[in-house]
Formats: sequence, structure tokens, C-alpha cells
Amino acid sequence: MKDKQMIVNSLFEAVEGQLAKSDIEQTIEKPKFAHLGDYAFPCFTLAKIFRKSPNIIAKEISEKISNDFIEKVEAVGGYVNIFLKQSEISKEVLSSIVSSQSAYGQQKHGEGQTITIDFSSPNIAKPFSMGHLRSTVIGNAVANIAEKNGYEVVRINHLGDWGTQFGKLIVAYHLWGNKELIEQSPVRELLKIYVKFHEVAEQDDSLNYQARAAFKKLEQGDEEALQLWQWFRKASLKEFEQVYGLLGIRFDSFAGEAFYNDKMDRVVELLAEQGLLEESDGAMVVNLENMPPCLIKKTDGTTLYATRDLAAALYRNETYNSTKSFYVVGNEQSLHFKQLFNVLEKMKYGWAKELQHIPFGMMLKDGKKMSTRKGKVVLLEEVLNDAIQLAGKNIEEKNPNLKQKEEIAKMVGTGAVIFHDLKNHRMNDIEFSLEEMLNFEGETGPYVQYTHARICSLLRKGQYNIKTSQFEGLSDEAWPVVISLKGFPEVVAKAFELADPSQIAKYLIELSRAFNKYYAHTRILEDNVTIHVKLTLCASVAIVLEEGLRLLGIQAPEEM
Ligand code: ARG
Repeated sequence: MKDKQMIVNSLFEAVEGQLAKSDIEQTIEKPKFAHLGDYAFPCFTLAKIFRKSPNIIAKEISEKISNDFIEKVEAVGGYVNIFLKQSEISKEVLSSIVSSQSAYGQQKHGEGQTITIDFSSPNIAKPFSMGHLRSTVIGNAVANIAEKNGYEVVRINHLGDWGTQFGKLIVAYHLWGNKELIEQSPVRELLKIYVKFHEVAEQDDSLNYQARAAFKKLEQGDEEALQLWQWFRKASLKEFEQVYGLLGIRFDSFAGEAFYNDKMDRVVELLAEQGLLEESDGAMVVNLENMPPCLIKKTDGTTLYATRDLAAALYRNETYNSTKSFYVVGNEQSLHFKQLFNVLEKMKYGWAKELQHIPFGMMLKDGKKMSTRKGKVVLLEEVLNDAIQLAGKNIEEKNPNLKQKEEIAKMVGTGAVIFHDLKNHRMNDIEFSLEEMLNFEGETGPYVQYTHARICSLLRKGQYNIKTSQFEGLSDEAWPVVISLKGFPEVVAKAFELADPSQIAKYLIELSRAFNKYYAHTRILEDNVTIHVKLTLCASVAIVLEEGLRLLGIQAPEEM
């Protein structure tokens, strides 16, 4: 927003050019308390330059700066505290939101650039785990945030649809598979025979041998093996798509690991040409500094996860001409991505330094990892359905006459699960708790959604429409809300810079809190003179809440 730039310029002149404008911008703080102003500029580093105490410098600067946005300036304890002209700023913020609507906060720095984002990427014939839920939700939010920063985004689902586990599945299917049951409930049944394979193979190693042989056949294009594989893949994908449908998530590409089957020879050749490929106990590896070697081919000649990721990186770079690539994958794969990026750097690809692993922590239940251990499967779809059901129950109690109850329960239930995941920094482990997620008063998705819906109801009652907007005449109580609204564009930029959707989630909580406090003290629908500006403020909050939720992948119902 203009005011910050103008303040930077004024400060730049006041310090007689002794600090760069970019340094000044970085140094400016936002005071924690309103009585310290809206911006604070600390003068401690200037003491050396001017050979005066920070107190004196602050005093001198405060006497020098002024511009159209500044109400008053105070020097306190080595800080220059700047108070903005509330009326000017409010006018600027509200008119900017009302005229841009959902485009408010849009950034330009990504324009003309493409990012590929690899996220969700579940494994065929295995349940969609909590780790995959986290990747799906975080990846989708990061993708939306990147678009809001001007980037073109390619959403890629790198399906785990290749690898020795398919050899195991083929063997298991021949031994114990039941076609009808698999058709009915593919993931559950395939998991069942997969688990059985492991149990039996513990006693009988020949099964493992058969599985490797079966996968090798698959890699070589054996017709029967391919057909089975295709069926497993299609059936599982259909199940995954139900989850994506519930979450409202789409992908531009489902090119998974299998897609790279015929693209790996080239990688192996390139590595060999550059003298990077070495033999180790019959396997082919690339040796790396300060970390274990990256395995490219096993002793039996079959390829690995890493080989496919190398082929995928080359393919994506060539196909999408991307300037950046993100991989939203759990923290436990950190080493894999370090090795991958290192190999690509050794291959002298300049773009390798634009590849970024975006890791995240675990989902816990009662402090323990929620996983897909034998038999104990937590099916994501069940979790989502539970959340939707519970949301429906809450709605039934609070607002039994609501129209479209089912649709809204869906938005609230899935929104609760998503928000719960995104409100903490992604590296934190999170404790899974349906009750906590759905608490309308806590730091939850439903709380933000509820604030939004309440505003929509005010706007209906006050018959607000864009033409009745007014931008002047707000009381002092509205100031924290205005300041929060003003901060949204910066939050959007920061969330992208740190690939951290929790910046947005925390912001939405803060904006909701500020609004609800204002609402508790202000009779919005009274007083004919100021009603229009108050409703314009409400409408602005609703726009920003809806847009912020959208960035997280959450819908904002107008009633709930
Ligand atoms: N399918 C893998 C898993 O579930 C995640 C794939 C992530 N993406 C990638 N390009 N390696 O562990």
C-alpha cells in the first residue's frame, strides 16, 4: 500500500540517505500496542553512523517526517512511532477492496513464471494416508497462494503407481485375489492381499523372489502383467478421486511413476556419459558428498523411486518450462530429495537449484503416529465423512431451519479438517481431534466461516450493495479491523515466500477476532448517517475472509 512507501521515502530523507530504502523497509516494525502507533522505526543501528544516542536520533527524525498519511509522530525510547491518519487510510483500504473484490491482495512478482507443484501423490492399491492428506491440503493451498502471487501453476499428482510392490500385488492376486471383491472395494481388498503377502513371505522367501520377477516382467511390458496393473490403478484412482471431489481439489496431471518407465533409459545414459554412474555390489549408484549414494538401478536391473524422480524432473523442466518446482512431501523423505537435487546439480542443470522440497510433520492420534499399519487403517474418506456428519449435527442444533443443510455441512466439515491442518506451521506434528476441529469458538475453520456467514447476514439485513458503499466516517473502534484488512496483501506475499499456508490461516483468525470485537461494541445496523460506511467495512471483511479461505481450499457459506 502507498502509505508504507511514502513513509519509507520520508524516513530515507530524514536519515540523509545513510540507509538504503530497502533496509528501511525491512527495519520498520509493527508495534504490538496501539498506543505505540501503527509503525515504529528503531534508531539503534543509526547511533554509530550519526554518533548520537538513539533517543536523540529518534527525536530528530520525528521532527523531520510528515506526509499525507501521517497523523502524528512521537519519539519514544529510541523508536520513531508513527501514527497513521485513520480516515485517509480507511478510505484507501476500503475503496481498494470494494473495487478489486476477490482480486484484492493479488501480487505481480510471479507473472510470466511457471511453478510445478508435486503434491498428494498417493500410492495405488494402498489407502490414502494421513500423510497424503497433509500433502494434499498443504500442496493445494501452496498452489493457490502461488497463483495469487502471479505464478502460473501446474498441479501434478505423482501417483505411486510403479515399483516392486506391484510385483507383490500381482503374485498376491494370483494366489488369493477375488475379482468381484476388488471391483467393489478396490483399495480395501488390494491392501488385504498385500498385507497377506507380507505375512506369508515372512515364512516363505520364495514369494519375494516371485514378486521381483513379476515386477521385472511388468517393466518389460508383459501384456498380462500390464493389464492387471492397469486395473489396479484405475480402480484405486477412482477411489482417490472421491476424496479429491470432497475436498474440491483438481490436478493438471496424473503422470505418476509409471509414466516415466520409458524415460529412465535416457537418464541412465546421461549419467553414464557424464561419468557419474558407478557400480556398487552389482547395483548402479551415483556417489554423493556427505550423504549416502543415490541408487539408480538394483542388482537385477530394475529401477527405483529415485530413478523415476530424476526422469520426472527432466520431463517437467522440458514440458512446462518451469522456473520453480515444489515437492510437497513428508519430512521423512528429506534425504531422498537432497539426493535427487544433488544428482541433478552434478548433472550441471542450472535449474536444479530452483527445486524445493516442502516438508511437513506428522499427524498424531493420542500422541502417536497415525498410520496404515497392518489392519489398523485410518481411511481418509471416513475421517472426512465423520467431520461432515458432526458438522451436520452442530448445524442441526444451532440453526435447524437452514436451507441446503447438507451442502453446508460438507463445506464446514471439510473446512474444519483442512483448517486444522493448516493453522500451524507445516513442520509441526498435529494432533488429530474431530471435536477440536469443529469447535465454532476456537481457532478453527468453522469459526472463520461463521464470522463470514454472520457478516453476510448483516449485509442482507442492511441491504448493502456495492453502490451503497461509503468510505468515510468510521469510528475509532473500527481501526484494528482496517489495519488488519490493510495487511492482507503482505500476508499473501509472505505466505508464498515461506511456502507457509499457516500465515493465511493465522491471519484469518486475527481478522475474525478483530471483526468480532468491533461487532460486539458497535451497533452496525443503527444510525442512518454511518450505516453505509459500517456496512462497507463489513463487506470488505467478508471479501477478505472468503478469499483467504479460498486460498486455503475452504469454502465460505453465506449462511450456517
Ligand atoms: N508416492 C510417494 C509416497 O507416498 C510420494 C511421491 C512424492 N513425489 C515425488 N515426486 N517423489 O511416499
